[in-house]
Amino acid sequence: MLSLTDFDRVQFPENFLWGAAASAYQVEGGNTKNQWYLFEQEEGRIENGDRCGRSCGHYELYEEDFDLAHDLKHNTHRLGIEWSRLCPEAPEKFDTKEIEHYRKVFEALKERGMKIFLTLHHFTEPVWFAEKGSFTRKGAEEDFAKYVSRCAEEYGDLIDFWITYNEPQVALIGWLWGEFPPRKTDLALTCRELAGRLKGHASARAAIKEKVADAQVGLVMAVSEFLPQRTHDFLDQHYADLFDYLWNECFIQGVTTGRISFPLIGEDEVVSELVDSCDWWGVNFYTDLRINSRHPRGIAETLPGERVTQMGWTWSPEGYFRAIERFAKLGKPIYLTENGIGTLDDYERVRFISEHLRVAAAALDKGLDLRGYLYWSLLDNFEWACGFRPRFGLIEINYETLERTVKPSARFLAEIIENNEMTIQMIERYLPQSYRF
Ligand code: BGC
Repeated sequence: MLSLTDFDRVQFPENFLWGAAASAYQVEGGNTKNQWYLFEQEEGRIENGDRCGRSCGHYELYEEDFDLAHDLKHNTHRLGIEWSRLCPEAPEKFDTKEIEHYRKVFEALKERGMKIFLTLHHFTEPVWFAEKGSFTRKGAEEDFAKYVSRCAEEYGDLIDFWITYNEPQVALIGWLWGEFPPRKTDLALTCRELAGRLKGHASARAAIKEKVADAQVGLVMAVSEFLPQRTHDFLDQHYADLFDYLWNECFIQGVTTGRISFPLIGEDEVVSELVDSCDWWGVNFYTDLRINSRHPRGIAETLPGERVTQMGWTWSPEGYFRAIERFAKLGKPIYLTENGIGTLDDYERVRFISEHLRVAAAALDKGLDLRGYLYWSLLDNFEWACGFRPRFGLIEINYETLERTVKPSARFLAEIIENNEMTIQMIERYLPQSYRF
């Protein structure tokens, strides 16, 4: 295991991109036209009965937030567009006021000299789209492409990196595990949704390229390894393989070879627009998952004594290395588009960042084509079904007053960015001895 004391400094390449990531719904506030808003209104769906509501008020306060990011030396920001703002009622009915709003948002980033990663789909969908069955519906990708095409037309001059979907595999949480909307627990529907998202990626990419020929289009993956809890248990191994296919491999296979294959629903086709359809891959990483086939959800409980975050996720910097390596082998540039920790203890965040950047540096040393690191997230924000409890931000939000307070971990990261290196002295300055090993 890589330790935090056995090195002096790790350096990052020139032009390395540094910053933080966010999604529209989690920070903007005031969104009422998507399926997550409806989901939240149902009793018991969100911890503590939280509602996203005005969230961080980022819709109004974006300039203040970008100033903070800029002061913290970020040269890049990853953010999302809320589809249901642009098309609240129907695929071809655009709200021009919202189109202008996002243009101002992107211009504000450009004025601060920052590169932009733009996510077009980050879990939320307009109610009209979700009610028709999301991507399980035949032809749904055409509606998605209409919205994406308009975004490319409007913002093609401002966006550096386009992301069709954030973590398309999170479909499993809503369609198989029933914890996110639409609360299904149906394997066949899950496969349909995954197949639809692959087609959606192909159509969206084609729509972007039609408007902006040299656009850099990628897919952002939630990369987790699925490890059998009992290595010699046939069923645990079998489940782990199945989950790995649904979570990781069907996308890797689809986006490289164009093949969409889900035997359970009789789907096996090669979509030509899908062949080699990522100019780069985004790797989001939080944890690895152990599979216990006897557990109702298939995922094993964490063990007593394991380091876990506020989300109940185990730390796995070793898994981070393997995740980066797996995607780097696909031969395209890799951006670490999300990595972060939900914790109330900011020292833990410093340690988390140190350990994971140490891994990123090791991957660079091995010659892997890593081009940037974006922390999740700039601000504390609405953490989906967990509500406002988990605190992922580099910047603390007081949800009563919307006051922003920069955490020490943000300054730690700023120092790394400024020097384009992480040294043991920096870690010593930000992390008490008891947190190091
Ligand atoms: C998602 C974010 C989420 C974060 C922490 C990622 O999977 O893209 O929306 O807040 O993980 O759970």
